[in-house]
Amino acid sequence: MDLIRHTGLLDPLPLAAAMERAQAGITARFTEVTPDPDRLGKAMGHALIGGKMLRGFLVLESCRLHGIDAALSVDPALAIECMHAYSLVHDDLPCMDDDDMRRGRPTVHKQWDEATAVLAGDALQSLAFELISHSKFGMKGQMLVKMLARLGGRYGMVRGQMQDIAAETMTPPLTLGQISELQRNKTGKLILWACTAGPMLAGDSPKDHPMQTYAQAIGLAFQIADDILDVEGDAATVGKATGKDANAGKATFVSLMGLDEAKRRADELVQSACDALSVYGDEAATLQEAARFIVDRKS
Ligand code: IPE
Ligand code: IPE
Ligand code: MG
Ligand code: MG
Ligand code: MG
Repeated sequence: MDLIRHTGLLDPLPLAAAMERAQAGITARFTEVTPDPDRLGKAMGHALIGGKMLRGFLVLESCRLHGIDAALSVDPALAIECMHAYSLVHDDLPCMDDDDMRRGRPTVHKQWDEATAVLAGDALQSLAFELISHSKFGMKGQMLVKMLARLGGRYGMVRGQMQDIAAETMTPPLTLGQISELQRNKTGKLILWACTAGPMLAGDSPKDHPMQTYAQAIGLAFQIADDILDVEGDAATVGKATGKDANAGKATFVSLMGLDEAKRRADELVQSACDALSVYGDEAATLQEAARFIVDRKS
């Protein structure tokens, strides 16, 4: 599949095929921008490849829905996957969650060493910004860059990770409101950028956009599903260690609401995500299917 040189709009596809297309296109583009990988490049590739690439898929779909050419949408799709991969490589480090397995394979610091993992994460973050600061995006690119810096950093994902780590030693445990705010940052903000990349490239403000409403609902649903998998999933299927949150004494949606209520809340969020997209009619069917997938997934 040659997504990179594909010009024109991507064809609408059912979810599974659209996700496969995203994975193939993003992987091919990564290989193109990291020729002859050395130790650092190999570690970056190990971190980037093998996941669902949901955030990259969301970029491609949000761009398709807003009339953005596939030749322009693949780099932002790779960029958000680089940010996500960097966040996971650092999240798995011994000083954070101390995980040995991700996607059924050794984590980067296990496959290589801690220094390589820190540096591969750093380089993935730089690559994300390099990809979206190209002149081909014109003035619209400035918004992409500024929003990724904001949503990825001190007011976004990194803030959420700090809140998450701090919460491990906090007594009393976080309230539901505090957990929601933490998750909005930790998981929600990269998903928000992915969903609003299309509107931003089309020149729309992401604020109060239907794609923002959709993103906020699936972002929260995604983290609730992650917390449920940590309780209900087995490591072989999920591809990473489970039971970690309870062991770390973490307050999660599941620990506070119980499994049934957490599932009910996730279902409600899927419904509101789908409702937010009704303005797009049938064109948004794949993204609506994705909202369902986010809570039904087993890994
Ligand atoms: C896992 O994200 C980490 C969270 C933000 C909860 P994904 O479940 O999207 O991970 P991969 O990339 O598909 O492995
Ligand atoms: C990680 O959250 C989220 C980010 C890296 C931003 P978790 O620690 O819950 O993710 P997993 O369970 O290790 O994938
Ligand atoms: Mg973590
Ligand atoms: Mg973790
Ligand atoms: Mg988790």
